[in-house]
Amino acid sequence: MNPVELIRKKRDGQTLTEAEYRFLLSAYVDGHLPEYQMSAFLMACYFRGMSNEETLAFTKLMLYSGEVLDLSDIPGVKVDKHSTGGVGDKVSLLLAPIVAACGVPVPMISGRGLGHTGGTLDKLESIPGFRTDFSIDKYTKLIKEIGLVMIGQTEEIAPADKRMYALRDVTATVECIPLIAGSIMSKKLAGGADALVLDVKSGRGAFMQSDQKAIELARTLVDIGSGFGKQMLGFITDMSQPLGSAIGNWLEVVESVECLKGNRGTDDESKDLMEVTLLLSGAMVFLGKKASSVQEGIERSKEALATKKGYQKFLDLVKTQGGDVSSVDNLEKYPISEFSADVKSSDRGFVSSIDPLEMGLTSITLGAGRQKIDDIIDPKAGIVLKKKVGDPVAAGDTLAVLYTDSEEVISPARDRIGRSFKIVPDRPTLPPLIKYIVEEEGIRKWDG
Ligand code: URA
Repeated sequence: MNPVELIRKKRDGQTLTEAEYRFLLSAYVDGHLPEYQMSAFLMACYFRGMSNEETLAFTKLMLYSGEVLDLSDIPGVKVDKHSTGGVGDKVSLLLAPIVAACGVPVPMISGRGLGHTGGTLDKLESIPGFRTDFSIDKYTKLIKEIGLVMIGQTEEIAPADKRMYALRDVTATVECIPLIAGSIMSKKLAGGADALVLDVKSGRGAFMQSDQKAIELARTLVDIGSGFGKQMLGFITDMSQPLGSAIGNWLEVVESVECLKGNRGTDDESKDLMEVTLLLSGAMVFLGKKASSVQEGIERSKEALATKKGYQKFLDLVKTQGGDVSSVDNLEKYPISEFSADVKSSDRGFVSSIDPLEMGLTSITLGAGRQKIDDIIDPKAGIVLKKKVGDPVAAGDTLAVLYTDSEEVISPARDRIGRSFKIVPDRPTLPPLIKYIVEEEGIRKWDG
């Protein structure tokens, strides 16, 4: 087979066979297919999409490009969660320890920042010493020990996705349902969980900018998972503004720790973050058979928070994965950015929207994400929102604070963030935070 022919075939809208996908993926993983040809192929997929059969074949090949873990000797229903990516989405940091504290084993394989969205691995690695690169043996050992592990893709887990994920990030080929589905499901199926909860984000800060597209992606993911015999539950949640208040790796760890300690999340800028976290952890506790409904799972999760068992589990996680527990327990000891700058409002009224895409992209210019494959992230950099949609604002109020080590990026970032806030005279109505639930049987509006 000739890669150029296969790229041309996809470019012209034809479907490829499983054997053709196998050829391309194995050549890519072996290093025989250069990045420029894979980039061209990905762009062709972006424009032409894939049939259902192609998506399934592609996912299977990505999955079996590496090992598929067997966790059957670990007691209990093992449950993982995946978000399709958003801005300020630090839900995994909160939910994984809460769910593990409820007695459900959580084997979590996470990704790095992608496009304008942040990644759980980058956030965890901002904790000094925290390691996410364990071998598979260590991965299973840790779940047995503390009921929770959060690692990145090793070379053994879906290596085709590992390479392609980084390439898609820098070739503007992320926002494509079959590529996202293959990427997510190959990692998640390889990780060995019995059940999976999905948080499919919808809105300007998400890869799926409309509910219709988000539903299409959720349907594809749930169908693939069910086809592999996994219990699946998906939710479509709002990403029309950043989730919570912090955007940027260590800043997001701080917000998560404050929520786990019970210091934030009730009536402040982290309220939406807590609501999404409790819903998804409730669903995981339910699928993990520690509650008889999602609602009861939410109650169990609230108890784990109130008794600080969730926070204790987070400290256990940091310790067992080599992180410095004292920097988490004493957040103020962490180094701070050389420069910080307030973004002030010149109007009075109410915040009617905050552009999450602009927030995500601007946080990258501050140092919080990558513009090139080998860029090094500044863990301290990012943005903290002081106002969220619906909040009243007076002229001169601080809307957000920027953190960075490079002085020259502050002025353009301040202008960009200032323009991302829209202020109107009357209090706007808020969009629903949790929109739909997606089950194997169908999709319905979420009514709590
Ligand atoms: N998350 C993933 O793991 N892969 C994607 O392609 C998008 C979000």
